[in-house]
Amino acid sequence: MRLFIWGDRFIAGGGEPDNWCPVLFDVLGSGLTLAVRRRIAYTKLNRVHNNLSCGVSGMEKLLEQITDELLGQVIIESVNPLEPVKVHSIPKSWRVLGTGNYAAVFCRQGAEQYAVKIYAPGRPGIEEEAEVYRRLGRHPAYSECYYAGADFLILKRLGGVTFYDAMKRGILITGQAIEDVDDALRYARSRGLRPHDIHAKNVMLRDGRGLIVDISDFLKDDDCSMWEDFKKLYYRLYWPVASRRVFPLPRPVLETVRRGYRLWRRWN
Ligand SMILES: Nc1ncnc2c1ncn2[C@@H]1O[C@H](COP(=O)(O)OP(=O)(O)OP(=O)(O)O)[C@@H](O)[C@H]1O
Ligand SMILES: [Mg+2]
Repeated sequence: MRLFIWGDRFIAGGGEPDNWCPVLFDVLGSGLTLAVRRRIAYTKLNRVHNNLSCGVSGMEKLLEQITDELLGQVIIESVNPLEPVKVHSIPKSWRVLGTGNYAAVFCRQGAEQYAVKIYAPGRPGIEEEAEVYRRLGRHPAYSECYYAGADFLILKRLGGVTFYDAMKRGILITGQAIEDVDDALRYARSRGLRPHDIHAKNVMLRDGRGLIVDISDFLKDDDCSMWEDFKKLYYRLYWPVASRRVFPLPRPVLETVRRGYRLWRRWN
């Protein structure tokens, strides 16, 4: 059992220690009971979470609900790492905010400001994701990580819809949102990170502004052209049509584009 507290320089906001939001990362030992694991986590949490808007008791309660209700019941299945995970048996009071190829993200009634991201069994990357949040600090276009467990993260919930869902529902993706994402990616680079895997399900639209919802691969070394490719399609195909008339794109169309793009990338 190891416990780490990432306290210093976790949040960039203003650079003041008062604004720093520490994250608690516990690598849970296999032999310990849930109760013992929670007790230890909460003790640390009490020490480090006094700056959180939720307060310690709100976070304690959520942790309890995650371990007692969610983790014990939900089944997250990742059959193919190139397709979204499948989620079964969602407990009452919880709902799915979204699924990615590695993880599912949930929200609990009464704790709507949080998003709980649970990695599917065997899917790597949780430590890297928590580390990226630590390096990013606080920025309006990104979420924040409040707590990192062995297989789940408690994140700030971002409102809005993904670009993918916006296209599906016929909501206009504004030029401002594209610029916001560009700015946020520049900011990530300025923090020594390498933006990666920025596709239509990893960026969101809220009140016409752009947000980045998934930063899990920002520690990877290789270049990723996904966002640049998305922008080419946006300016060449999407904007000329959608700026005049926006209409919903059926899911099969979006899925065909997604899979076609994946094949195109493999050959290029
Ligand atoms: N902080 C958040 N607030 C609100 N919704 C979120 C949040 N984080 C994730 N989501 C939703 O959950 C979905 C899946 O999350 P995420 O992209 O982080 O999973 P992933 O498995 O890492 O994805 P990928 O397949 O891109 O690696 C997102 O597309 C989004 O709809
Ligand atoms: Mg994702």
